[in-house]
Amino acid sequence: MPSPAVLLALGLPALSLAVPAPQISDPCAKFAGQTFVAPADALACLKSFPFNETLRQNVLTNVDRVFNFYTFEDYYLNSPPPFQQSTTNIRADLARINNTVYETDYDFNKDLYDFTNRLNDGHTRWLPNCYSTFQNLLPAPVVTLEENGVQSVFVAPDSVEFISLLGTEYTSFFDSINFDWQRLAGAQVLAIEGMDPYAYADLIADTQSGNYLDHGVRVNSVFSSYRISGTDFSQRFGDIAGPVFPDKNTLSMKLLLVNTTKAITVEVPYLADYLGAPFTDQASFWVNNCAANNETNGGLEGVARVAKRDSLGRKLARAVIVDTAPKNAVGLPSPFLPTLPPVNGSEGVIKSYILPDKKTGVMFVGSFEPDDFNGFQTDVAATVAAFKEAGVSQLLIDLSNNGGGFVCLGQFLHEYLAGSRIGNPGFQSTSRANPLAQKILKADIARNVSFEVAFYPSQNWAFLNNTEMPASFDYNDPDVTSKINGATYAESQRFLDICTPFAVDMPEEPPFNLQNVAIVGNANCASTCAMFSTLMFEHYKTKMAVFGGKPGETMEFKGMAGNQVLEWTDINLEIELAGLKDDPLAPPDLLVNADFRHNWRTAYSFLNETVPIAYESEPAHFRFPYTKDTYNNPQNLWIFAASQLF
Ligand SMILES: *[C@@H]1O[C@H](CO)[C@@H](O)[C@H](O)[C@H]1NC(C)=O
Ligand SMILES: *[C@@H]1O[C@H](CO)[C@@H](O)[C@H](O)[C@H]1NC(C)=O
Ligand SMILES: *[C@@H]1O[C@H](CO)[C@@H](O)[C@H](O)[C@H]1NC(C)=O
Ligand SMILES: *[C@@H]1O[C@H](CO)[C@@H](O)[C@H](O)[C@H]1NC(C)=O
Ligand SMILES: *[C@@H]1O[C@H](CO)[C@@H](O)[C@H](O)[C@H]1NC(C)=O
Ligand SMILES: *[C@@H]1O[C@H](CO)[C@@H](O)[C@H](O)[C@H]1NC(C)=O
Ligand SMILES: *[C@@H]1O[C@H](CO)[C@@H](O)[C@H](O)[C@H]1NC(C)=O
Ligand SMILES: *[C@@H]1O[C@H](CO)[C@@H](O)[C@H](O)[C@H]1NC(C)=O
Repeated sequence: MPSPAVLLALGLPALSLAVPAPQISDPCAKFAGQTFVAPADALACLKSFPFNETLRQNVLTNVDRVFNFYTFEDYYLNSPPPFQQSTTNIRADLARINNTVYETDYDFNKDLYDFTNRLNDGHTRWLPNCYSTFQNLLPAPVVTLEENGVQSVFVAPDSVEFISLLGTEYTSFFDSINFDWQRLAGAQVLAIEGMDPYAYADLIADTQSGNYLDHGVRVNSVFSSYRISGTDFSQRFGDIAGPVFPDKNTLSMKLLLVNTTKAITVEVPYLADYLGAPFTDQASFWVNNCAANNETNGGLEGVARVAKRDSLGRKLARAVIVDTAPKNAVGLPSPFLPTLPPVNGSEGVIKSYILPDKKTGVMFVGSFEPDDFNGFQTDVAATVAAFKEAGVSQLLIDLSNNGGGFVCLGQFLHEYLAGSRIGNPGFQSTSRANPLAQKILKADIARNVSFEVAFYPSQNWAFLNNTEMPASFDYNDPDVTSKINGATYAESQRFLDICTPFAVDMPEEPPFNLQNVAIVGNANCASTCAMFSTLMFEHYKTKMAVFGGKPGETMEFKGMAGNQVLEWTDINLEIELAGLKDDPLAPPDLLVNADFRHNWRTAYSFLNETVPIAYESEPAHFRFPYTKDTYNNPQNLWIFAASQLF
């Protein structure tokens, strides 16, 4: 770490150094029990664990073998346009990380995290719980807004209301150092870290945001935006103001404060929010956050507590990204909440309203991963019934910051809007037929492993004629091979999801003329959300409108559309149920508290069934800049969108 003198010379407030440093030998004990921590102190604790070769070999062996299940590996060798930026050789990256000299366990994990993060696939990431214990928070979240026909970056005008919701424990720190953050609200941002603010947005989108293949979509991740978190309206910090790692003490911002004409440069301090498990010192920090625990590797006991099943008893396939930001679910400040009365079915992850024009019904679908799988379906039915009764004739669906969820709920919403006459509401899908996957399915058939506990068993899937596969059917034998970027890719035979019967009566015909359905959002729409919006676009040419982004840059309407994701505990359970834990191809149990999740299935595009939806470029038809009136005010945005789209 630079010495105090160097920090002062750089003009940075010496946060951790304000207190004359006594010889504290335990860098974690220093802030035990505190919610908000100076980033330098947080980082000193995280970096206090020395590099350990045993842990590196354990982690890399696990990651290397789980990557064999990753459906998109070969696409990365030469990612097709417009996704070229993600091109990399995954095995060469792993070899580099195996050969790099690291000082600390943090440095190793950060490198592995960054490499998987830059695959820009939220389904496929190394998530070390030890090192995602903080969120670094800046009291000046940024947004891109149009004013008088010009788009610029601003400190969010609602920063005072928004930041105040973090509570006085957060804000009192800034009072204690006499830092006036309130005056920054609404300021125009002329430069960040000496760069043009959009160039800085690009840098963060390229190096930190991850999750989405399209750069344009990632640009929206760096800015603050509204969302539904849990079942409440919320405001996301954005990745400039709310990064995961506490590795920045301040952000230099050149600003034009509201009602002023002279630019000033301000070093805005970050303050890290501790979100990990309680601890008292370095040793207990490690035990409680970093060492493997009884849940890290899952295991056969997990079968007993398999969480969610459909009406046929199937485990529910999930397609969802990990947005580390919901950890800090600060509400949307109350002045910006919708004032219209919500219609029936708005208690969960869906919030629905009838706009003042009385013709437009709005469904804000915040997630496809509700606590109550059937409740999502009854909410949709209740909302549509209420809309019909009120004479609503056009439907606006808001998918802002929808990170996905249960695959079958995306297919459910598609079928509810399109009518059950369409048949199977999904898409063709495959998993990767690597040698261990082939062994797993054969073992499942031989051992009669039930589809109620595992995802590989054939009865989970339907042939393309929409009939369920018999338990004895081996969809990986023969496998199907193709060349992707020169590599031979082996995948399963194609199949469909089985999502029916649904929990509610499905309309046979579309409840609304499908030409009068439009989708809005900020393209931070992942996994099941992206598959749902793609189904609507590919089958019915549904209008897709995206707000925000960088002026002049193209943008896909969807974020990452992988398909089903398996957490490490999920794939480990599949291996254990098949009795293959001792197979030389099986990944070892992790010695650390972490998750290596991966995209386990591919969804193929309806328009071109050789192309995964994820790689089918589908730019937004309509692009709108946010304004001061819409960036944090969903109701204003919907009224504007309805005036433009219908
Ligand atoms: C490295 O980690 C392993 C596994 O947790 C542990 O047994 C070993 O003592 C550690 N090595 C050192 C030098 O700390
Ligand atoms: C890392 O490199 C060492 C030395 O070449 C090798 O023995 C080991 O198997 C490699 N580990 C992994 C996970 O590939
Ligand atoms: C800026 O000026 C306008 C018009 O005089 C005034 O209404 C507003 O309160 C001022 N805002 C700030 C933050 O000074
Ligand atoms: C793991 O251990 C914790 C604490 O001892 C306990 O509360 C939890 O139920 C255990 N989980 C499992 C899956 O056994
Ligand atoms: C809303 O739900 C209530 C209670 O379930 C029901 O009585 C009412 O008819 C519903 N209203 C509409 C418009 O569907
Ligand atoms: C396979 O398991 C199911 C229950 O999971 C059982 O009904 C069936 O009889 C078993 N079949 C064989 C061949 O063991
Ligand atoms: C559906 O397809 C499968 C596999 O091709 C075939 O075995 C089965 O007979 C077909 N079922 C119907 C009802 O066509
Ligand atoms: C489908 O995509 C493949 C791969 O990009 C391309 O070669 C082929 O021409 C496409 N087919 C159609 C019908 O667009």
